Amino acid sequence: MKKCDFRQSGRDASGEEAQASKTQRPIVAVYPGSFDPVTLGHEDVVRRTLRFCDRLVVGVAETATQAKGSLFPVQERLEMMREVFAGESRVDCVSFSGLLVDFARDEGARFIIRGLRAVSDFDYEFQMAQMNRELWDEVETIFLTPEVHYSFLSATLVREVAALGGDVSTFVSPVVLERLQRHYS
Ligand code: PNS
Repeated sequence: MKKCDFRQSGRDASGEEAQASKTQRPIVAVYPGSFDPVTLGHEDVVRRTLRFCDRLVVGVAETATQAKGSLFPVQERLEMMREVFAGESRVDCVSFSGLLVDFARDEGARFIIRGLRAVSDFDYEFQMAQMNRELWDEVETIFLTPEVHYSFLSATLVREVAALGGDVSTFVSPVVLERLQRHYS
């Protein structure tokens, strides 16, 4: 079988294409959520996003569409997020209030990243994606599925299990586990 040789087809990385990629706008995305607290499932979505995006702004929302009764204040969720992604130079963690589309626009991002775990997530995610597009028609929502091992994982369940004394060490990073243990000790 004939192999595709990009050099022969004029598409080698030192040619025009490389030049074009230097002048292209960086791909910036926002990953919004409540992150109360950040789980390994969220972390997985961030790392998957970094495969195709130059800069990712993780936005801890001060106003969530579905109020779930918060455990950690926004500032503490943000601190955990920053600790978890301290080694990722392409990830910025900030909090935001107001509309998600305004936050995305202010950050220079036209992509919203959301994790989709199961069909049960779909209605809510579909509604939000469509509403966000109504609010700003240049924005695209990209859904990523997490590692199958995390497909059942939610911050809500982590909070509940931790509150009842269960072991959540396989669901969150050590820095988050420490905060949960401190909270419930
Ligand atoms: O992790 P969550 O709670 O599912 O995240 C929901 C979040 C924060 C992404 C959503 O509630 C949101 O975008 N809030 C910001 C306010 C806003 O823009 N609301 C309209 C959304 S269509």
